[in-house]
Amino acid sequence: MAKVKIALTKGRIEQSTIQLLEEIGINCDFLRNKKRKLVFQSPYDDYEFILVKAVDVLTYVQQGVADIGIVGSDVLYEDEREPYEMLDLEIGRCQFCIASTPDYDPFDYRRKIVATKYPRTAARYFQEKGEDIEIIKIEGSVEIAPLLGLADAIVDIVETGDTLRENGLVIFEKMMPISTRLIVNPASLKRKKGEVCQLVDQLAAHIARKKETVK
Ligand code: PRP
Repeated sequence: MAKVKIALTKGRIEQSTIQLLEEIGINCDFLRNKKRKLVFQSPYDDYEFILVKAVDVLTYVQQGVADIGIVGSDVLYEDEREPYEMLDLEIGRCQFCIASTPDYDPFDYRRKIVATKYPRTAARYFQEKGEDIEIIKIEGSVEIAPLLGLADAIVDIVETGDTLRENGLVIFEKMMPISTRLIVNPASLKRKKGEVCQLVDQLAAHIARKKETVK
């Protein structure tokens, strides 16, 4: 069996991804006690894992350094590259939302300023609504932008809603659902077809089974 390299997203979806892999029988204990290490050769099977930032998952897969990538659809939607997506892992579910302070008026005639980590997504969304807005790109802690008067509203991902609540913001519009996806390097799919497809099939069957049990 050829070694399969998998790029995992650090942070938010890391634990649920590891859990999903373990549910299909891939022992990931070395990923759970990882300290600050970022590249892991599985001592159990022919998998190598790298832990990187979401947008870098795309880069590693695109460049063929990783065969498979696991990353949120928010990142895929925002990026201009179009990786080959094979599976919705149905974890890491959240939503793209428009949020602001309670006094925000979405129907105000003035040109809105929207702060976001996702400028392409926000631009596309408002464009489709036929609304011309100004976008300010922010790298993090977007929630403070309307509080401090930098923007009228934000476009951001909302999972539990805790960050919004704790900062006194409310959701004005749910834009689209987000979940974690499995992407594949097309050359890897040819060269390591058996290995890649085996993993994808196992995951797909497991996800389908999980869905059946919650019905
Ligand atoms: C996201 C998002 C919000 C928060 C929402 O940031 O930008 O700040 O999570 O989650 P909640 O609804 O569960 O409170 P993330 O944690 O991904 O970190 P980042 O700002 O470093 O990108």
